[in-house]
Amino acid sequence: MEFSIKTVSPERARTGCLVLGVHPGGTLTHAAQIADRAARGALREVLSKGDLSGKTGTTLLLHRVAGLAAERVLLVGLGEQKEFGAAAFRDAVRAIANALKELGAKDSVWFIADAKVDDQPLAWNVRQAVLGAREAFYRFDRLKTQKKAPAPALESLTLALSGAPVTLPAQRALKEAVATAEGVDLARTLGNLPSNICTPSYLAAEAKKLARQFKLGVEVLERRDMEKLGMGALLAVTQGSRQPPKLIVLRYQGAAKSSKPLVLVGKGITFDTGGISLKPAAEMDEMKYDMSGAGSVLGTLRALAGMKAPLNAIGLIPTCENMPGGAAIKPGDVVTTLSGQTVEILNTDAEGRLILCDALAYAERLGPHTVIDIATLTGACVIALGHVATGLFANEQKLADEIRAAGEDAWDRVWQLPLWEDYQEQLRSNFADMANIGGRPAGSVTAACFLARFTRSLRWAHLDIAGTAWKGGREKGSTGRPVPLLVRFALRQAGVR
Ligand code: BES
Ligand code: MN
Ligand code: ZN
Repeated sequence: MEFSIKTVSPERARTGCLVLGVHPGGTLTHAAQIADRAARGALREVLSKGDLSGKTGTTLLLHRVAGLAAERVLLVGLGEQKEFGAAAFRDAVRAIANALKELGAKDSVWFIADAKVDDQPLAWNVRQAVLGAREAFYRFDRLKTQKKAPAPALESLTLALSGAPVTLPAQRALKEAVATAEGVDLARTLGNLPSNICTPSYLAAEAKKLARQFKLGVEVLERRDMEKLGMGALLAVTQGSRQPPKLIVLRYQGAAKSSKPLVLVGKGITFDTGGISLKPAAEMDEMKYDMSGAGSVLGTLRALAGMKAPLNAIGLIPTCENMPGGAAIKPGDVVTTLSGQTVEILNTDAEGRLILCDALAYAERLGPHTVIDIATLTGACVIALGHVATGLFANEQKLADEIRAAGEDAWDRVWQLPLWEDYQEQLRSNFADMANIGGRPAGSVTAACFLARFTRSLRWAHLDIAGTAWKGGREKGSTGRPVPLLVRFALRQAGVR
């Protein structure tokens, strides 16, 4: 799908589908008013008949409205004018895109791009419209022999401004959003691929493919490299699996060599059975998504490289399977991590922190400016925050604030949880420097506290995406979160607003 931004007047837009916003009670947006005048009140008349409530996300399709150049007009409800904000804008975008999926229109002109959302600039609307549309049009049917319909009918989407001229920031936002959407799609597809296809080797091959495509640096550490380095925790998790583990290092250089990189560390458990501490059978298939952190790192690097973002970033991905078996780790086993600290593995299902602690210790060697790890780390985070906010932890408040702000900006939101020393005692072990679990209370916090023991010398944050990386139930599928957040954070750090 091609995207563009243009200044046009609604009545003259020659398009398969003209999209106009309305509020409840028949209140028209500015562009809808102009169109209505050209159509001699036809829009107001339809609304007066009560065919569209104007509630957020409602739509009504009209054909061949006299006085308008467009073939079709799609009216979309934006909700009450005084309650109109980011959430309503996103809902409206989703509703429009879903309606367009069912139409034969080849192109569409949207007049909601210039709706004022809170105190956000036009660039915000542009990003949200592009990402929302791409989200709705995403399809994963690679593994079906009977594909639903041919490729999406919509070929071009124009974000129209009725009065204002197209600004440079808006143009830049469009480019940023399209590249971000490519990254989100990649993360979604990697997440949706089952574990018999998306193995650690597959992720490594994917990283190499990105490296070729976007001229990135890539290095893949193998089991023997991990042994030489002394990554006892990562090696412990992988030892029950037939699939060889990988540690992927993917480098994007968009700034001077001397500029310290942002290092993104993604949990890449391509399937989490729980190991000897086996998980229950119900919904275990969803543990193919336990590499979503890794997918989001690859997606973010793809996005940053695709838009030639002015910063240096490194993706670091520890990836393996967590399997039970004769060679698997057992509860009570003690291992020595790359940092030199020992860990008593009381529960083999708390494997994410084990592979991450060695990756985080390795991250220090990359001379990072900031390190952020992204992981489907704890079921407890789903209990705490549900499927709306990603859990955020940081060892520096300014970093936490910046990530939170980037999350609002990208509408890919996070909520901070404490990383207080008080929780550390839950990780006490009688036999090693620490245990890998801290009991039921505050499970997400103790997981983060475990990681904090390996990042003392770093400017570091941890994102627990257990509740936000995928959806279950009928709509089961990867969301691609938090790629939009990570891209926005990286750009804001680089001074791109
Ligand atoms: N990958 C899971 C976390 C998870 C579970 C994410 C369910 C999303 C939905 C992680 O490896 C895990 O199993 N964590 C355990 C930790 C516990 C043993 C301390 C959990 O959350 O139950
Ligand atoms: Mn687990
Ligand atoms: Zn896991």
